[in-house]
Amino acid sequence: MYILMATKGAFMADWQSIYEQTKNWTIEAGELIKQLMTSQITVETKSSAKDLVTNIDREIEQFLTNKIKQIYPEHVIIGEESEGHHVADMNGVVWIIDPIDGTTNFIQQKRNFAISIGIYENGIGKIGVIYDVMNDELYHCLQGNGSFCNATPLPPLKPVTIEESLVAINLSWLMKNPIASPDVMKKFIRKARGARSLGSATIQLAHVCAGILDAYITMNLNPWDFAAGKILLEEVGGTIHTFHGEEINLLGRNSIFAAKPGYQQQFIKQYL
Ligand code: IPD
Ligand code: CA
Ligand code: CA
Repeated sequence: MYILMATKGAFMADWQSIYEQTKNWTIEAGELIKQLMTSQITVETKSSAKDLVTNIDREIEQFLTNKIKQIYPEHVIIGEESEGHHVADMNGVVWIIDPIDGTTNFIQQKRNFAISIGIYENGIGKIGVIYDVMNDELYHCLQGNGSFCNATPLPPLKPVTIEESLVAINLSWLMKNPIASPDVMKKFIRKARGARSLGSATIQLAHVCAGILDAYITMNLNPWDFAAGKILLEEVGGTIHTFHGEEINLLGRNSIFAAKPGYQQQFIKQYL
């Protein structure tokens, strides 16, 4: 006797297949970016002169959404450049996609940008993929199986003190802002071993996951900037909350404090 398992008319997801497909599609999308970037790139602005999008961002998002829709028409997609911006809940399977994270780097440096895909089921992180295209580093995880960089498993993260830490932080923290006093952030940065700023939220989240950064602290990210990184990081014991330590809203904009275990508690105790 065959038992068909269904939720709301949709068959239960085969996560192993979705994992393999997501990795393959992401690598194919990376190849496509490399091909397309050899010809003329069209750059447009969105909400401000600093908020850029190119024809390639749009093409890559289209490539990925077409793949998903062909096989999983019942899944929900939230993509930075096209659709799902009014999705109101995380019910069912939800794909959250940033086709090129670090578009300014992509345009001006032709490096330090990534493709990011986070897949959730009823709000639970199932698959995270971040592909640093030019460095050919594919960070990936299937919930419960650990995170990897290419074929290398990433070890569980260990606590680190602020004095020993290398932190990714944007210089806007040192200007007047609605979240934290610049004086507090200056004291913190003075105490840390070093600060870095790469210009791609997803790569910096992947680097915290890989243990080569101890924390990444940023003011205002959209779901497609952190959806995959959250899953990857939690898989290796890292933490990701808002700047003040609250739960992240998966469907909204959030400040983000992503770090090794225990690091944000130290920060809150010493500086907030
Ligand atoms: C941006 C980058 C940047 C971060 C911005 C993001 P985009 O994403 O991740 O590092 O500081 O907040 O919007 O626009 O290049 O996909
Ligand atoms: Ca982004
Ligand atoms: Ca983007």
